Amino acid sequence: MLSKEKIEKLLLGVDVSIYKNIDSTNTEAKRRTGVGEKMPLLICAEGQSAGRGRLGRSFYSPDGTGLYMSLAFAPKAEIAEAVSVTSAAAVAVAEAIEEFCDVDCKIKWVNDIYAGGRKVCGILAEAVTCGEQNIIVVGVGVNCTTEIFPDDIKNRAGSVGKVDRNLLAASITRRLLKYTENPGDRSWLEFYRSRSMVLGEDITYIENGISRNAKAIDIDRNGGLVICENGEIKTLSTGEISVRL
Ligand code: BTN
Repeated sequence: MLSKEKIEKLLLGVDVSIYKNIDSTNTEAKRRTGVGEKMPLLICAEGQSAGRGRLGRSFYSPDGTGLYMSLAFAPKAEIAEAVSVTSAAAVAVAEAIEEFCDVDCKIKWVNDIYAGGRKVCGILAEAVTCGEQNIIVVGVGVNCTTEIFPDDIKNRAGSVGKVDRNLLAASITRRLLKYTENPGDRSWLEFYRSRSMVLGEDITYIENGISRNAKAIDIDRNGGLVICENGEIKTLSTGEISVRL
């Protein structure tokens, strides 16, 4: 069971709210980013009725079998670019999963977490302007004990196994706040590169509706994907790629 007391004890200074079921913890975090709201703010739910994914997709969020959480915080200026937050979040989540679950994580650019060849977690980072200040909301959905997935994702979705979701939520939050407090050194990037499942691989990406082939060669300082396409070096800062087998 998710417990506000348990998570708050592990995260001094973070305001925690727990919901049994909510439309989307990201949507709720954005509703709560009014002027004067205390930050950071952590919203967790046992289930979501309208969980949201990247690129307008939905995120399957059945009751009690996953961790659905959103952390809202005021970022340091240097990390304002969404793609940096996103790479820091991917590392925070992968490290926390490996701390508590018996799995090895891989990161598929930008920020899907895989274990055992299946996607076990998705991350959705959104920015909200609140008066003069920018607030970033990082939403994390980890499949913990979900066994049955809808038809459209059942061949690629997986779960990390039984885990105390309070410990997992606190660990992800603590790590992400640590990385975003000191963003200058990009201390998370080495881990990100080491767990990348795309570096060195032939990939496909879509640009202006056209599918293009390239090789992924590096992750840059901002978390962008450096690719080589017909001898030309380019950097992708957002979007989605697939690895060509
Ligand atoms: C993706 O895989 O495209 C990103 C999925 C992000 C899902 C999480 S679950 C908690 C938070 N609330 C949402 O509505 N989405 C994020």
